[in-house]
Amino acid sequence: MTGIKIDGIVIAQSVKDRVKKAVDELKTQGINPCLATILIGDNSASTTYVKNKHKACEEVGIITKDHKLEENITQLELNKIIDSLNSDSLVHGILVQLPLPKQLDEFTTTSRISPLKDVDGLTPHNAGLLAMKKAALVACTPSGIMEMFDYHEIDLNGKNVVLINRSNLVGKPLYHLLLEKNATVVTCHSKTKNLTDLCQAADIIITAVGDRTKFTLTPDMIKEGAVVIDVAISRFQEKLVGDSDFEQIIQKASFATPVPGGVGPMTVAMLLKNTITAASLSTQIGR
Ligand code: GUN
Repeated sequence: MTGIKIDGIVIAQSVKDRVKKAVDELKTQGINPCLATILIGDNSASTTYVKNKHKACEEVGIITKDHKLEENITQLELNKIIDSLNSDSLVHGILVQLPLPKQLDEFTTTSRISPLKDVDGLTPHNAGLLAMKKAALVACTPSGIMEMFDYHEIDLNGKNVVLINRSNLVGKPLYHLLLEKNATVVTCHSKTKNLTDLCQAADIIITAVGDRTKFTLTPDMIKEGAVVIDVAISRFQEKLVGDSDFEQIIQKASFATPVPGGVGPMTVAMLLKNTITAASLSTQIGR
């Protein structure tokens, strides 16, 4: 069998169309949605990601404030910049691009952001709300993947899902979102013992390892008709690749995402959506 490609570019566009309408509506109320980004150092992948985020904001009419900081900035200096953005009523969303240079602590940094402006859903407040089914701002990659399931009407009820990632950005938020939809979720990682057996039994596999020297999801590891969501993107043998080879996996899967053009564009689209949500939240608390 040959499955259906889940086209992240098409689905992201449908999200962006909805966001654009919401931006126009907010503007009629005198609110100009604004996202502030903080990029530290000159990591080339991060620089590209932030550039793509700015371009997407521009497409839908969201204003951006670009903060490029020196690689050797101290935690104290970074905290001050975050504090000033927290108290700037014209800024609705704040994103600190990860990973951070070694001298900076990820938890200290992300938890410094006001939960109302936390468009990555990474603050302890918003991560906790997600676990209790009450989150307004959810991490972008996980919510983008849920949007893909919705778009293709892929039913999660009672499905066995194998998640190969346990990060705060991907695996943990996804676990909660999938559980809310009544999926049975197994979260795997580098110490998981019987990964191939677990994958072979799964209805849906979501993989985000990002290192082909350590892991490849091959067709023999999935069951006929499984859904494969490949979140990873890394450079391997001069090419941008995910954890699986799309052309091979789609021969056996019922649905699969390509890399590039799969989950990546969804992450950006959901960031725009979260910025609109944050802008709307700012009106509700009368700032
Ligand atoms: N680095 C890789 N993905 C992300 C993301 O979704 N948000 C942030 N802030 N950094 C990232």
